[in-house]
Amino acid sequence: MIAAATGRGLREALDPPRRQGRRIGLVPTMGYLHEGHLSLVDLARKEADLVAVSIFVNPLQFGPGEDLARYPRDLDRDLSLLRERGADLVFHPGVQEMYPHGFPEVTVDPGALGQRLCGRFRLGHFRGVLTVVARLFGLFRPHMAVFGRKDYQQGALIRRMVGDLEMGVDVRLGPVVREGDGLAMSSRNVFLSPEERSQALGLHRSLSRVQASFREGERWLHRLQELLARELEEYPLLKLQYGEIVDAESLEPVDPVRPGAVVAVAAHCGGTRLIDNLVLEG
Ligand code: PAJ
Repeated sequence: MIAAATGRGLREALDPPRRQGRRIGLVPTMGYLHEGHLSLVDLARKEADLVAVSIFVNPLQFGPGEDLARYPRDLDRDLSLLRERGADLVFHPGVQEMYPHGFPEVTVDPGALGQRLCGRFRLGHFRGVLTVVARLFGLFRPHMAVFGRKDYQQGALIRRMVGDLEMGVDVRLGPVVREGDGLAMSSRNVFLSPEERSQALGLHRSLSRVQASFREGERWLHRLQELLARELEEYPLLKLQYGEIVDAESLEPVDPVRPGAVVAVAAHCGGTRLIDNLVLEG
């Protein structure tokens, strides 16, 4: 496995395989890797000849008062996990390398899709995400890139950006990987105290209740929405930002609710912001 910290090192590693016509797959991450990230490496492996992973905690996507400074980092551990998992190339630039001229003047506007769900609470977040992903696409020029459905809105926005701007990258989305008890894996889960950790489970449990009611035939948005709110109230440590049932593409509320709609939630649990979602099956 090659590890590169500079754009130049990255080009030197990618030029020969590109010339040989090998298909390059990219998995962008912010590191502190867990099985959710590593499952995306496996997905990329299925479709790419060369699997590249980026590790960069992108300051541009953190708002004031968010957890940029304390975001967990452990590069040595990440590198050994990626080596074990069979990644071919890891790019781990510093902020200076990624943004040599300071933060970019020209950025990617996420549009209306970026104003929904998390976009209402994290101003500038998706602009920061799309801008760094566009920059990573420019650096790697990958044939394909893999993202997780855990960050549902992010995946939808990246797909939209690649389509709207004809970036020519094949974007794949992998399923949410969960702990044995259902909690969605997240680098931020390390911040949870034991009590918060058990209450954080309320997110997945509430989503599952909505799924069960939907399976039993409930289709009215307000009923499912009420159920979601009621379930979430059972967990006093969860400070809800939103719990919504939306169309998979537009992320607008849908009524009546159809299979394929997405139930998405965001809540603070102590000082940690958590998100989760589930695609409804009929
Ligand atoms: P990060 O939170 O590190 O996540 C990197 C990728 O892993 C994202 O595509 C995310 O959706 C996916 N992922 C995280 N937890 C997952 C889980 N439990 N199951 C499946 N996939 C999971 O998302 C980012 O970084 C950044 O915004 C980034 C895209 C790298 C841009 O900076």
